[in-house]
Amino acid sequence: MEIVILPSAAEVGLLAARKISQLVTRKPDAVLGLATGSSPLAIYAALAAHVRDGSLDTSRVSGFALDEYVGIPAEHPESYAAVIHREVTVPLRLDPARVQVPDGRAADVEQACERYEEAIRAAGGVDLQILGIGANGHVGFNEPTSSFASRTRIKTLTERTRADNARFFDTPDEVPTHCLTQGLGTISEARELLLVAQGPQKAAAVAAAVEGPVTSMCPASILQHHRRVTLVVDEAAAADLK
Ligand code: F6R
Repeated sequence: MEIVILPSAAEVGLLAARKISQLVTRKPDAVLGLATGSSPLAIYAALAAHVRDGSLDTSRVSGFALDEYVGIPAEHPESYAAVIHREVTVPLRLDPARVQVPDGRAADVEQACERYEEAIRAAGGVDLQILGIGANGHVGFNEPTSSFASRTRIKTLTERTRADNARFFDTPDEVPTHCLTQGLGTISEARELLLVAQGPQKAAAVAAAVEGPVTSMCPASILQHHRRVTLVVDEAAAADLK
């Protein structure tokens, strides 16, 4: 595992974006795993700038979102389908046909999850998975106790995660209680993992993921078993590392 500690959150986004640009330049049809939430926004903004200035061609890139809420319409501005469209597909000029998000509105959830796994396989697997980390150590929405072998499935969000994500909604009650998320087994199959974390509220989770025991109580600790992982964190998020 490579750990890069940078002075500021802005630099985290720039360095992570540089790594992704290098991959896309090397492999123009790269498959990216896309996280939502605040952590990757600076990455997407930096990549969009490369696209705008003509230094990056993303026309053949595919993307798979990590997760989606269950119980809110796709048109809701905070559905991950809407967030990915607004923050990634449009600014990075990705082909919308190549961008997928788990279907949180499917009548048959199990089938939707299987279809998602199949779509990732059909695309040849994820080349680089962008990850944030929850303050409780979750990756994707794999909350503590998630199996390391888990695949895309429905999960209940913990009260901690619902409280942390309440900032995106008008009222805390509006935060969905359930989600579909790629499993830890799914995420670990990506050929490369790139986790970004900024701010003191992530320091304990980053330390547990990197230096703690590998345990489903800290789902991000599964990264210790992956061959190609880069963590890019600011000094505040690195504060609890020994
Ligand atoms: C989002 C996701 C989550 C977030 C995590 C951190 O797709 O998978 O694991 O990465 O909750 O969220 P932020 O970045 O908002 O602090």
